[in-house]
Amino acid sequence: MNILGIETSCDETAAAVVGDGVRVLSNTVVSSLKDHEPFGGIIPEIASRRQIEYIHDVVAESLRQAALTLDQIDAVAVTKAPGLIGSLLVGLCFARGLSRAKGLRLVEVDHIKAHLYANYLQWTQEHTACGQQRLPAVGLVVSGGHSSLFHVRSFRDFKLLGVTRDDAAGEAFDKVARILGLGYPGGPVIDRLAASGANEQIKFPQAPIKGSYDFSFSGTKTAVLYYTQKNKNKPDYSPAKVAYSFQESVVGVLADKALKACHKLKVPTLLIGGGVAANSALRRQLQQRAALEGIDVFFPPMSLCLDNAAMVAGLAYHSL
Ligand code: KG4
Ligand code: ZN
Repeated sequence: MNILGIETSCDETAAAVVGDGVRVLSNTVVSSLKDHEPFGGIIPEIASRRQIEYIHDVVAESLRQAALTLDQIDAVAVTKAPGLIGSLLVGLCFARGLSRAKGLRLVEVDHIKAHLYANYLQWTQEHTACGQQRLPAVGLVVSGGHSSLFHVRSFRDFKLLGVTRDDAAGEAFDKVARILGLGYPGGPVIDRLAASGANEQIKFPQAPIKGSYDFSFSGTKTAVLYYTQKNKNKPDYSPAKVAYSFQESVVGVLADKALKACHKLKVPTLLIGGGVAANSALRRQLQQRAALEGIDVFFPPMSLCLDNAAMVAGLAYHSL
């Protein structure tokens, strides 16, 4: 079964064709990120206007890459929520129109759950690990808009364990990058800069929120702001040290909660998804700690960590 996926929840306009829920036949992504960079964050009005401009060509390109025509597509899947309302509407209207015009079944998919499904896609020759990541699993989705922990009992049964109470993990990276004058998006820049600041750590506070799987990152972000304001003119001030220390603080809480959920629920599989899953410190720390604790941890390939439509088409297969 070939499913055409469409994803327009934020600044990426994405379309993909996935065969039988696992084989990525095409994966096309165009982003309006450059248009938002001068503002230091996503401007919803600009994002939705770009979605309208790009959607038709992106869908056509994904069919071309897959070497299929619409007549060889069995169903259309589209991100329903969460996301920016204007951006979401473009994908939803396009998918609904296509489904009506061609008589195709339509599946509306939750964006956050789809991020975890990225672990099950066969994208390249090297990434054919499907099936090893058995369910049930614990799933951690960390992106620019969300930090959510799930108990994934099946692809149609996700129990939400915890969410962020304020900033999402990626949002905290983006805001700290802005404090440090590093530009937008902040995650990749902080990740790179932190590598050269690893010899000494400033203790920025963490918010463990005991007895809950919820997260909170705004206190850590504010501590970075105060530290920077106080120290930026001192000779030993180092943005790399600040980036490293902030990253350690966030990654530590994410790893603690995800591993704790695995133990409490007696689930030996941990799935990570979302843009922050690309973070090298998160990958390193989780891989090391999970190995010691007898837990198998899985990250999607880098190209499927960020927003894409293959994860949407893949998850939709299980609804059909
Ligand atoms: O999943 P995504 O593409 O969009 C949302 O659904 O939000 O995630 C984008 C987020 C941004 O906040 C970006 O700064 C963050 O992912 N990000 C990273 C890294 N690469 C992207 N955060 C930390 N380390 C990275 N290497
Ligand atoms: Zn996302």
